[in-house]
Amino acid sequence: MDGNGRWALERGKKRLDGHRAGAATLERVMHWAKAAGVEILTVYAFSTKNWKLPQDEVDGLMKLLGWFIGRKKKQLVKDGVRFRVMGRKADLPEKLQKSIADLEAATAAGTWQLVVCLSYGGRAEILDAAKKFAELPATERDEAHFKNCLYLPDLPDPDLIIRTSGEFRVSNFLLWECAYSEFYITPVLWPDFSEADFNAAIASFHSRERRMGGHK
Ligand code: IPE
Ligand code: MG
Repeated sequence: MDGNGRWALERGKKRLDGHRAGAATLERVMHWAKAAGVEILTVYAFSTKNWKLPQDEVDGLMKLLGWFIGRKKKQLVKDGVRFRVMGRKADLPEKLQKSIADLEAATAAGTWQLVVCLSYGGRAEILDAAKKFAELPATERDEAHFKNCLYLPDLPDPDLIIRTSGEFRVSNFLLWECAYSEFYITPVLWPDFSEADFNAAIASFHSRERRMGGHK
């Protein structure tokens, strides 16, 4: 969900206003994704490196997350959404950890998944997985067992990864899982990401031939 800061600065607003606008975009995208038949939406909300942002922005983002989580419970349960957080949860403020656990439990029966990456880093995930993997017997040290050591091993690899704000980088997102994902990069800043932009990404995905390293 990249470009919140630039969106705000272009308008003479504070970066946090951009993050607020970004949260509203997420609500809209969930709606469009459901309508398009997407079953799992994973969003990169806060990286392991984002702790280095100015303290007031970090605090503001944590507050915004807490607000989003607190406000959404009823709606998510009603819509059958299962809310899950992926990342180093222990890094988060304790109060936020509690509200996350509460929302995850309240939405556990949901069948449509919203996965929010918080204090997430692809390298951190691989490193955390490697520590578990090292405990396995030698005969089990294969790709399938490594995947089982990731944060949310039941999730399939993403089919499509959309990057907003025109950056041609992976930026430590789902490093293990993105091996065969299709990438879609748009210059649109996340708060401006519209239904037409979303549909263009989906159409682009459908136009691609996915060989996954094999032949047709
Ligand atoms: C969203 O936008 C990312 C976070 C939630 C931290 P950015 O903060 O990366 O916005 P830009 O890249 O500065 O425009
Ligand atoms: Mg950015």
